[in-house]
Amino acid sequence: MSDVATPSKLKLATGGGCCGGAVPPKQVEQAEVKTLVQDYYAKAVTGQRSSGCCTKGNAATLTIPQMAGYREDVLSSIPTAAAEKSFGCGDPLAFSEVKAGETVLDIGSGAGIDCFIAAQKVGPTGKVIGIDMTPAMLEAARRNAAQGGYTNVEFRQGDAENIPAADNSVDWVISNCVINLSPDKAKVFSEIQRVLKPGGRISISDIVADALPDFIKNDSASYCGCVGGAIPTADYLRMLTQAGLADVKVETRLDYDTDMVRGFVLGDESLQNVYGPMIEANPQILEQVKIASTKVVGRKPLPNEQPGVTLREATQKDYNVIVNLLQASNLPEIGLSNALANAIVAEHNGHLIGVFAMERFGREGLLRSFAVASGWRGRKIGKRLWQALLERAQKSGVQTFYLLTTTIAGMAAAAGFQEIARDDVPPAVRASAEFTSNDCATATIMRLQLKK
Ligand SMILES: C[S@@+](CC[C@H](N)C(=O)[O-])C[C@H]1O[C@@H](n2cnc3c(N)ncnc32)[C@H](O)[C@@H]1O
Repeated sequence: MSDVATPSKLKLATGGGCCGGAVPPKQVEQAEVKTLVQDYYAKAVTGQRSSGCCTKGNAATLTIPQMAGYREDVLSSIPTAAAEKSFGCGDPLAFSEVKAGETVLDIGSGAGIDCFIAAQKVGPTGKVIGIDMTPAMLEAARRNAAQGGYTNVEFRQGDAENIPAADNSVDWVISNCVINLSPDKAKVFSEIQRVLKPGGRISISDIVADALPDFIKNDSASYCGCVGGAIPTADYLRMLTQAGLADVKVETRLDYDTDMVRGFVLGDESLQNVYGPMIEANPQILEQVKIASTKVVGRKPLPNEQPGVTLREATQKDYNVIVNLLQASNLPEIGLSNALANAIVAEHNGHLIGVFAMERFGREGLLRSFAVASGWRGRKIGKRLWQALLERAQKSGVQTFYLLTTTIAGMAAAAGFQEIARDDVPPAVRASAEFTSNDCATATIMRLQLKK
């Protein structure tokens, strides 16, 4: 009997557009998705279903770990059952610089394949922690660890969105074909940033989807098979960067051909039941599925380090990413388009991590949309944005700045702003979309008058 008889859409916002990925769905929906994923992988590891995430293409004769790219000598050095029950799509530790004595944390460790490979690299003085939310996977992993006699590997039950590990405690975070399954990827990325030691590194193999037809996007059947919840490469890199990781980039990438795509989309009996007839009738539809296995690397900056952050004027192309950043900071986006012409953005590695904008009314300017991505706060980026915006506005003749705020009144006061009454604001500024929006009804109103 199939597990999923008809396509059913998950109510998620996991990406697929240029900035959808960072908007977390509601808690109740997240819990439902995770239960679905948990059931799926419990069945996969106990042999009740034929496939997991990364299945083989119809014409392929490779096993899952071979297709993921593991070397034979590496596979033969770990417990056979760990390799047989692996569901990864890459080899996150290939060519990595993991050293003896280091601590490696594997998110979604499954039956333990990458933990056992890491255990050999860190040696007896190091430590490997595997995290997985599925009890059946943890049982299998612990059995495999006992069989292999590993003393430096520990498996913990836990969520990628709430990693059971202390702040600043691990040298490496690795993961293999897991984060695409998370309904709250932004939270996973901020957890990675939290648990990494300063200078710690990531090596994450995962599926990215640069194009998906609507019938697959967030569909419950393809979600568990690592396709439906995958997000575009650009979103993946941007979200990791916004979480505070530096120098994030794709290190290796394998774009799947139609045969491999077929293997994913029709990977097992239940998927065949759901999508088989549609694809048989219209096989070209598979060409709309642009998925790839990527290995993404990056690092957590040192505390006093100022990793290259540059400022520039915003353009129309930044609009969606700015909206995304504002939403993540609980700031209103209403009227943003009127302020884009006078907005400054901060970037690291080509990814937008901060914004400060001004809506202009002659010699008056309404400051708005001040947001720095969570992982980059405390690095003086806000101050730099303000100085750049001030300088630009002054040069163009703005003499008075207004600000509506519920969060930065203290900071604004330190910069010379004074609290004023609503009636002290000129009518044109008061008529702006931000001023008239309900979101700002209770905000503190502040003014900075520049000396003439
Ligand atoms: C596709 S399998 C990959 C397993 C393993 N990394 C490998 O390469 O064989 C996905 C694994 O991630 C776990 N997982 C999925 N979503 C998770 C989440 N949000 N938190 C923790 N574990 C999760 C599943 O239980 C499953 O074991």
